[in-house]
Amino acid sequence: MPANVVVGGAFGDEGKGKVVAYLAISDKPKAAIRTGAINAGHTVVHRGRTWKLRIVPSAFLSPETLLIVAPGALMRIDVFMKEVEETGCDGRIFVDEKTGIIEEKHVRMERENEYLMKVIGSTGQGVGAAMMERVLRVLKLARDFPELKKYVRDTVALVNEILDRGENVLIEGTQGTFLSLYHGTYPYVTSRDVTASAILSEAGIGPRKVGDIILVFKAYWTRVGAGELPGELPHEEAVKRGWVEYGTVTGRPRRVAPFNVEWAKRAIMINTPTQIAITKIDAVFPDAKGKRRWEELPVEARRWIEDLEDKLKVPITLIGTGEDAEDMVDRRRDIFGPQ
Ligand code: IMP
Ligand code: MG
Repeated sequence: MPANVVVGGAFGDEGKGKVVAYLAISDKPKAAIRTGAINAGHTVVHRGRTWKLRIVPSAFLSPETLLIVAPGALMRIDVFMKEVEETGCDGRIFVDEKTGIIEEKHVRMERENEYLMKVIGSTGQGVGAAMMERVLRVLKLARDFPELKKYVRDTVALVNEILDRGENVLIEGTQGTFLSLYHGTYPYVTSRDVTASAILSEAGIGPRKVGDIILVFKAYWTRVGAGELPGELPHEEAVKRGWVEYGTVTGRPRRVAPFNVEWAKRAIMINTPTQIAITKIDAVFPDAKGKRRWEELPVEARRWIEDLEDKLKVPITLIGTGEDAEDMVDRRRDIFGPQ
């Protein structure tokens, strides 16, 4: 039972939160780790309730799972406390002693920076400014704050012991491959590398402990902020297709484009996924809405998936059909057999 990684294949907002929530419910990992920072909003919907999470792992829905904020992550203490309360996960959530802490001054620094706010279209959450201080080695870490004392642990030792006992760990990435500081559409990118290798590094888990890398795409592509979006549709066309969304953290409308096979292949090259998840298939094939079995999907949807699988040459194992975490067609058993 190894570490499994969930990583974004596009520009963020692929539905990683939903995929992680589904995997938590179905696989009940011993621990789940959130990487990245509070600029990334992961939405989890379950049985009529919605959570918009910026730091608590989207796997909180599995009550047996230990929840961990990675040493490479950056968070605000108030955001963390609020989400711990909203998710009721106190007692089973830990923050690494080395997790970076974003303070008010970092938010101010970004919001006063016209280049970041107007040209790049930053979410203005102070993440890049805190990262900058971290690189300069002046940023304060979780271990420096008494109010976090009861949550702070050496989570790297903790998760590696769990893995060495043969138990399952789920690692949640943020943003998407083309927002990576190294591999994205620089300078229109976020302030960290967000690809599979970087997610492992942030969590303190070596690549040989990895089982599955699940690369997540949405059935159509979206982007918030500036920078290239291949095949971008005019806003009216996006509205007509019902593909307009709003940012989880900023509320900004997202720019929209059809699925891009060429860019998807590049994301596959960089992340080396063993599986692909495609979310929001119901936005393209409305009759797929809420279906949870492959046979129940409309023929055109199945054909679209199979055609895409042929092109991408990676099994498409998880297909999101609605907003609820359990609105998912899970083909893992059909494709790989019982685990
Ligand atoms: P920053 O990382 O907040 O400075 O934002 C830099 C760029 O990344 C902007 O285009 C943001 O819209 C984008 N971005 C950052 N985080 C997310 C995310 O979680 N989802 C989608 N876009 C994001
Ligand atoms: Mg998001």
